[in-house]
Amino acid sequence: MSRTAIIPGSFDPVTLGHLDIITRGAKVFDRIIVSVLNNQHKNPLFTIEERIELLKESTASLENVEVDSFNGLLIDYVKEKNANAIIKGLRAVSDFEYELQMASINRKLDENVETFFMMTNNQFSYLSSSIVKEVAKYGAPVNDLVSPPVERALRKKFSERT
Ligand code: PNS
Repeated sequence: MSRTAIIPGSFDPVTLGHLDIITRGAKVFDRIIVSVLNNQHKNPLFTIEERIELLKESTASLENVEVDSFNGLLIDYVKEKNANAIIKGLRAVSDFEYELQMASINRKLDENVETFFMMTNNQFSYLSSSIVKEVAKYGAPVNDLVSPPVERALRKKFSERT
């Protein structure tokens, strides 16, 4: 039986911390679908199409990883894709409470879908998309925080804005 896991998120943009989780998840599951939440209410830096493209470029070498987007409830999307698992990365204790709440509601909505938590590699424990955007906005290097396509996209985005 083939095992598919969904890695959901905003990915605005994908960081090396996300890529660490995706790469390690892809070694455990047969198929990984990284899916970007298409949430109109947030004010993202990158459009949904840009975030998908950057994820595709950043995961191109991982054969069992696909990139997609979703609307609405994550659990409905997981079932639509015939997946049986959700993978989330945990950076620090501060992530725990929110993720426990999410995993609990998702389990209540469908007890057949399991949430798996992976501890982010220590070297990325401080990293978030917001931190990366803040650093890039003021022109500091982000080459050891994101993949080369994301670095280029950030540079372009902020040079267009000034
Ligand atoms: O990268 P993020 O912003 O931390 O990702 C959060 C995400 C997309 C995983 C979470 O907001 C989510 O699953 N949203 C979909 C709506 C949903 O199913 N909510 C939980 C039940 S109320």
